[in-house]
Formats: sequence, C-alpha cells, structure tokens
Amino acid sequence: MTSTGAPKLTVIGTGYLGATHAICMAVLGFEVLGVDVDEAKISKLAAGEVPFFEPGLPELLTKALESGRLRFGTSFEEAAAFGDVHFLCVGTPQMPGSDACDLTYLDAAVRGLAPHLERRALVVGKSTVPVGTAARLTTLVQELAPAGTDVELAWNPEFLREGYAVDDTLRPDRLVFGVASEWADQQLTAAFKPILDQGTPVIRTDLATAELVKVAANSFLATKISYINAMAEVCEAVGADIKDLADSLALDDRIGGKFLKPGLGFGGGCLPKDIRAFAHRAEEIGVGQAVSFLREVDDINRRRRARTVDLVRELLGGQISGRRIAAWGAAFKPNSDDIRDAPALDVARTMHGLGGHVRVYDPAALDNARRAYPELRYGESALDAAEDADVVVLLTEWSEFREIDPDALAQVVRHKRIVDGRHALDADQWRAAGWEYRALGRS
Ligand code: UDX
Repeated sequence: MTSTGAPKLTVIGTGYLGATHAICMAVLGFEVLGVDVDEAKISKLAAGEVPFFEPGLPELLTKALESGRLRFGTSFEEAAAFGDVHFLCVGTPQMPGSDACDLTYLDAAVRGLAPHLERRALVVGKSTVPVGTAARLTTLVQELAPAGTDVELAWNPEFLREGYAVDDTLRPDRLVFGVASEWADQQLTAAFKPILDQGTPVIRTDLATAELVKVAANSFLATKISYINAMAEVCEAVGADIKDLADSLALDDRIGGKFLKPGLGFGGGCLPKDIRAFAHRAEEIGVGQAVSFLREVDDINRRRRARTVDLVRELLGGQISGRRIAAWGAAFKPNSDDIRDAPALDVARTMHGLGGHVRVYDPAALDNARRAYPELRYGESALDAAEDADVVVLLTEWSEFREIDPDALAQVVRHKRIVDGRHALDADQWRAAGWEYRALGRS
C-alpha cells in the first residue's frame, strides 16, 4: 500500500486490454507495474510507444510515464513483491482447431506469478474465460503461493471496445466485482475508487456470475447483429429494404438502434471467439441446448461474408476472375488496426481466391494486413486502390470512405460500380452521380 492507502497495482499481460488498463490506472493516480513475457512489447511501452492503434492512448502513456507512477518489466518476482492487487489481462484466444477458449496464457501467468506471492494479495482476472475458470484458478493460486489462502482471487470482467478503450476504461458503464470474500471486495473497491467516486454502478456478485456476465454481454451483442442480418436475408428474398426496417425497429426504445446495423457482420478478437467458446463450454457442462442458438448466430454472420462476394459477382455480370476489385477496409471495424477475424479481409481473400485482382486499402490496418496476407495487393490510399477498378467494395466503414466524393472516385475507376458492405454511403447520392450502387439487404 502507498501512504494514501491506495493499493499498488500490477497488470500482467500488456496487450490491448492490459496496456490500456495499466496506463489508465496510472493516470487515475495509482502506482502501476505492467508485466509481460514479451520483451519487445515491454521495451516499446517503457519508451512511450503504444504497440497498437488506439485513439488517445499514446498521449496518456506519455502522461503516465512522466508522472513516475507507471513502470514496465518482465519479472513476476518483481511484480509479486510490488503489488497488492494483481490484474490478469492476458489473451484468451480461440484454441486452434476447436471452438474452445485457449487458457494457456492465463494459466502460464498464474503459474508465473503465484510462486512469488509471499504476502496477502488479491489476484483479479479480467480476461474473458469459460465459466468455472476462476474457481479452478483459486485452487491453483492458493496451492502455488507461499502465502497460501492469504492470496485470494476475484473476477472483474472488462467491457472495453477497441477504438474507445480509453473512455470505456476511465468512464465505464458499470463495474462487475466477482468476489469470494468481504476482503476481496474491499481491495477491488480501493483499486477502483476514482471510478466508483464518479458514481459508476457496481454489481457485486460471485465468481461464476462475473465470468458469465462478459460472455453473456458479448453473446447478446453478436445475437443482435446477426438478428438484423437475418432480417436482411429475408429482405433480399422479397425485395424489401433492410435499412428502412432497421431504422424503424431502432425507434422502439425497447429495441434501440445500437448493434442493429446491418451489413457484413461482426469480427474481431472478441465477439466471434466468445460466442464459440460459450457454446462449447455450455455443451461441456450439459446446458448446450440453452445457447445452441449461438451456432446459428455464428452461421448467419459467416453467410454475410459469402453474400457480399455474391453481390460483387452479380454486379460484375457473374464473373470475379480477372476483374479489378478495390477493397476498402481491412480492420474488423473503423478506428482500429486490428485484423483478427476481420470480415473485410475474409471477403478480400475470397475474391482473390476466385481470381479477382484485389487491391486493399485501410487507413490504419495496412501494415498488419500486409504482414498477414502478403498474397494480396495493397494501395496507398482509397483512390489509389480504386485506380482502374471494375468495382469498389466498401468493407469497413471508416469515415474517410464515407466522405469520398462519388465524382472524384469516378475519375479514377474503370466502371462506376460500388458495393456498400456496411451501409455507410448515401445510396441516393451515389446513384444520382451515375453509380451502380448495391448493398446487402437492399433492392
Ligand atoms: C466487443 C464488445 O463490444 C466489448 O464490450 C468487449 O469488451 C469486446 O468485444 P470490440 O470487439 O472492440 O468490442 O468491437 P465492437 O465495437 O463490439 O464491434 C464488433 C463487431 O461488430 C465489429 O466487426 C463491428 O463492425 C460489428 N458490428 C457492430 C456490426 O456489424 N453491426 C453493429 O451494429 C455493431
């Protein structure tokens, strides 16, 4: 503890979630040590460089480092000696060849830290995990720690969205404290004091509920997106208009317009793997039927990618092979350079596989895309990628694409054809400028 009584914090795992959490907690006034096994990542952060794209975070990193309250290192021993509250923020990706969640990194973090915990401390899981993990890790931590049952475990799921990570961390909608004792609750309350003082609602609950809150939230969001995309499939069959349908539903307060945007569907490092891991875990514990609809949610989502390729093919008169295609967008969503399970790149790669000459452009994710898929071609700007294109396909709704003037684009393409995979453009404006405009779920 510091002289003010505030706990000293460590953050184990300095990826997207961990780096943001460590930086924001230091900005809020805590002494924080960020720990990772990846030395390159740690050196970058220690030098003031955020290793991924997140608006506002680089400025806060500079501020936190200048305050002297934020340090980075690679030693679990140092972390154990320093911290009162240890946040576990390592990744829990999809296991290769399975829908299950891969807990290798989380287990390794616990096994790295616990043997050094010689005094009373709270270990707090923030990673998204299958329900039951916290109970298992409690036993593991207490077996491995010299301090034994003086070390407790809590679960505090994180709901931050990429692109809004700073705001979501500093001003969250809610906090969830999964705790097994009054003491653990007091530690978490102290560790989040500045955020609680803003009046942020907090739900205090058991470990299993806290684990479930996160997967239940992401499953709900994925379901809402797939619901509207399923309606788009129906609209396509009858010549109805998904945009008008979605706008009409959104005006019902009980439904609301958030996560009701039809289009190419969801991707990223969370929603797809979380719904799969949840369905998998539910089957393991004998309640598979309760969430079997998540398999359908996943299938609807995948079909949107295939349908986008079909739309491009239709607009090209039935043939993708040999055609020049500008693919606008690579990131799984705007304001991010994250290409994990990115619908945009999935579509681009499928069109490339069908013999299309695909040129990709993205305002932030080009380097990541180039590294992952060197077989694709890349443009230096939206207009550069569209040079001589037979069709332009908008796959990620960056504002840069929304703002492009149809007449300016007409100057560089070979044919004025556009597929709007994200309902990002004004169809009337593009049609008035002489473009053949197509979008999923619209006649
Ligand atoms: C998500 C959750 O929102 C966040 O709370 C959790 O902590 C992590 O997972 P994130 O992966 O950053 O966050 O992205 P999000 O903004 O939720 O978008 C996910 C995907 O859904 C994107 O591919 C986006 O393009 C797509 N989406 C979103 C839609 O297709 N339609 C919508 O209406 C909303």
